Amino acid sequence: MSNKKASIEFDGKSLELDTIVGTENEIGIDITSLRAKTGMITLDPGYGNTGSCTSDITFIDGEKGILRHRGYAIEDLAANSTFVETAFLVLYGHLPSEIELATFEEELSEHSSLHYGLKHHFDGFPENAPPMAVLSAMLNTLACYNTELLTTATEGPGFTVPTMKILSKVRAISAWAYRSSVGKPFMPPRPDLSYTGNFLHMMFSDTFKPYEVLPEVERAMDLFFVLHADHEQNCSTSTVRLVGSSRASLFTSVAAGVGALWGPLHGGANAEVIKMLTNIHENGIDPKEYVEQAKDKNSNVKLMGFGHRVYKSFDPRAKILKEQVDIVLKAMNIEDPLLDIAKELEEMARSDSYFVERNLYPNVDFYSGILLRAIGIPVDMFTVLFAIGRMPGWIANWREMHVQNMRINRPRQVYTGASLRPYTPMGER
Ligand code: SDX
Repeated sequence: MSNKKASIEFDGKSLELDTIVGTENEIGIDITSLRAKTGMITLDPGYGNTGSCTSDITFIDGEKGILRHRGYAIEDLAANSTFVETAFLVLYGHLPSEIELATFEEELSEHSSLHYGLKHHFDGFPENAPPMAVLSAMLNTLACYNTELLTTATEGPGFTVPTMKILSKVRAISAWAYRSSVGKPFMPPRPDLSYTGNFLHMMFSDTFKPYEVLPEVERAMDLFFVLHADHEQNCSTSTVRLVGSSRASLFTSVAAGVGALWGPLHGGANAEVIKMLTNIHENGIDPKEYVEQAKDKNSNVKLMGFGHRVYKSFDPRAKILKEQVDIVLKAMNIEDPLLDIAKELEEMARSDSYFVERNLYPNVDFYSGILLRAIGIPVDMFTVLFAIGRMPGWIANWREMHVQNMRINRPRQVYTGASLRPYTPMGER
């Protein structure tokens, strides 16, 4: 708490409220006593002005385009770290020592396979089952195979075992969701491959033709996961916290996070960007015309991959992904017309007053889809990969909430419905 006070004046009365100042001098007004002292609540649909918690995990400064995990800048992590190391950092708050990293990698490898019983669940899904629905269902199904782990432990094996199971198995579940949709058998993980190399192997290897991954592709895929590792109290992370606050298990809480991430305004946007670019390309739409449509409220068209609730300048992740797209396309000797369209849209929007006045810049999803498409990931798997990347962040937030012994999350409302009225029998309606 800080020694500065805020006060609310209402109806001739005044209430003094404590404030809290964060590490980077963000200020929060503590309204935990508001309703008890005044009978009033605040109203903030979409929670744009409401802090749900204090957190040590991630800091974002939307005005300056800053993103840090446990104090480390995303640019630093992108240049020097790996997804496994960043996951450890996000989970445990410090960069791992050599021993800690080796142990972490060993545990991920130990938990990389799937129980044979899960096969029946995959066999039961229709071929056109949306991979995000399969992922959410199978994360919950892991709870059925780990009933002794349905706890809210934040230390020791009660936390580390479910955490490693989820972090590791999310790859195999995701890869199997894809392979079963194209009629291919499950490809078991290989202990000799890196976390990300194993994922690409499980996605694309065939029994007699192992997937040969280009170093640039593996690095870009790993970097994609690093860039998605956590992002403060976004929609899906808040969902994981809300579900976890009822003391539901980690499996169930992250499965709920997958559901929230699926929406096209959130993690589903990377797939929507590709659909938008493909529509423009295949139908010969003039990008300028499309930008005009996106500005028209009545068009129901948005420039997908643009805008952000927090970033009011460039999303630092978008910059890094844009660089990776150029590297991977060059390494794979691919020319993708969608990239040219994306760059044209960005250039137009960046100089258009509609976007500039509303601080709408490319976000993490604007270029990520082009990268995934170049690697050969099908569009309906894009958000699944976002979920793989975000898993450490969801788990770290779930754990932090329990360490803080957070009360069950239960927002209030302002009721605007009918006032009291007597029941009317059928004949009198
Ligand atoms: C992610 O929160 C996170 O951290 C999320 C994320 C993470 O890592 O977890 O960063 C990942 O979800 C990135 C966002 C991916 N979504 C998209 O790219 C979808 C397109 N973007 C928009 O839907 C929108 O920008 C949101 C959802 C991202 C943000 O919505 P807000 O904060 O509620 O903003 P808003 O809708 O109120 O927009 C403010 C204005 C409106 O115009 P006015 O009413 O002021 O005239 O900007 C306009 C909007 O119409 N606007 C857009 C636009 N985004 C906002 N207009 C055209 N195209 C867009 N993309």
